Amino acid sequence: MLYQEKHRPQFHFTPKENWINDPNGLVYYEGEYHLFYQRNPHTNDHADMHWGHATSTDLYHWEEHGIALAPDELGTIFSGSAVVDKNNTSGLFESDTGGLVAIFTHDGESQQQSIAYSEDKGRTWTKYEGNPVIPNTKIKDFRDPKVSWHEDSKQWVMVLACGDHIQFYGSPNLIDWTYLSSFGKEYPSHIGVWECPDLLYLPVEGSSQKEWVLIVSINADGPNGGSAVYYFTGSFDGKEFHPNEKSEDALKWADAGKDFYAAVSWDNTEDTYWIGWMNNWQYAGVVPVSPWRSGMSLVRKMSLYEKDGNLLLKQEPIVRDSSKEVTSYQDVTIQAGTTESYDISDTAQIDLQVSKASDSTKWGVKFVTDQDEAFQLVIDNQASMYTFYRTEGIIDFSEDFPEEVKGSLHGLNVQDLTAIVDRSSVELFLNGGLTVSTNLIYPKGTVTKLEIFAVNDALKVDNVSWTSLHSIWK
Ligand code: FRU
Repeated sequence: MLYQEKHRPQFHFTPKENWINDPNGLVYYEGEYHLFYQRNPHTNDHADMHWGHATSTDLYHWEEHGIALAPDELGTIFSGSAVVDKNNTSGLFESDTGGLVAIFTHDGESQQQSIAYSEDKGRTWTKYEGNPVIPNTKIKDFRDPKVSWHEDSKQWVMVLACGDHIQFYGSPNLIDWTYLSSFGKEYPSHIGVWECPDLLYLPVEGSSQKEWVLIVSINADGPNGGSAVYYFTGSFDGKEFHPNEKSEDALKWADAGKDFYAAVSWDNTEDTYWIGWMNNWQYAGVVPVSPWRSGMSLVRKMSLYEKDGNLLLKQEPIVRDSSKEVTSYQDVTIQAGTTESYDISDTAQIDLQVSKASDSTKWGVKFVTDQDEAFQLVIDNQASMYTFYRTEGIIDFSEDFPEEVKGSLHGLNVQDLTAIVDRSSVELFLNGGLTVSTNLIYPKGTVTKLEIFAVNDALKVDNVSWTSLHSIWK
């Protein structure tokens, strides 16, 4: 039965069947959050790209719809974005209150930017007859337009991925685009291609300040190999992006796990939310699941946090489950070299708060299956690093899959941890989401136990709790 398959996520978006990759066209409109995505409606492989479509009223429960955009004589439909053209700046709508405009890449003989519009809440789309709106400029990789309204300069601004850099374009009407500037050629170390950019204006926690953030996905050369998302903080003046960080040290990974890619944000929302494709191009085509292939991360609310004059991205997962089945323990002490073990399900949210009086600098948690496979997180506060071991379970489909995934704790001792397990994925949020790591797992058995262990000194836990999350699929 659909959604009952062994590794099928129960509360992450996956299509009923066949292939998906990047989230596209994320926009909030008339009570619905739209999630379009790269879609092959026919097979389980990356080919013949369309835009698929799902909607949600709470960013957690999703309903899958039919195909939104299909290939045509200009090519297949690659990634892009959508906006609400509420003042009908495009003139494409009958009504003054406008509607939805999608801006996407046509991948044909070359890559070009095109638009389409919808007057029925994204269910059906008409492609603009003058496509492409930005013809190709001899750049091979020229794609993934992300558009938003820039109030200060009173124009639509597009960020576009161009091989090894980003280009900015401006437009009064979503049809006529002017080149504004380029960014990123001065960061030379990238083996991979730059993809799926986004430009965000995020609040800095604990202040009334907001700062600009430029998001870039890079395929190859990620911190643990393959695809990953990084970001620059800086300023945007309506023409150019000026990074705060002037050297290659500027690179900060949004999620140093192996399986969070092509993440972009929703347009037309008060707070900023984003979602990523939960996979990695190193092995996306061979992950051992069917009849669907791959899905999305949880949606995360985004903000910035200032640490020693440095701005860090903070991400909080959106979980909207009315489950009352919370189990919790207070004031647990785990002596060095010992383990506490608890029964959990394989669709669970685990929250743990470390006591201020805790001495242990090296400790961790394990998710253990009924076949004794362990997926282990080790926190090393002294090295300011974590390691997630994904070396058990089904791993033989790709040599890039079994991995000790490492990431930075940004010099902050881990005070709290949220782990979200959904059969074939573990999303880790440390210190309120300042360190995030998203990783697929393919256990042969079923996760049934949470183990908490202290490597050195006593780990004092103020509170540990877990909730069994329900399936969002009826
Ligand atoms: C990123 C990406 C995009 C492209 C799309 C094609 O994962 O390579 O750059 O538009 O996927 O499916």
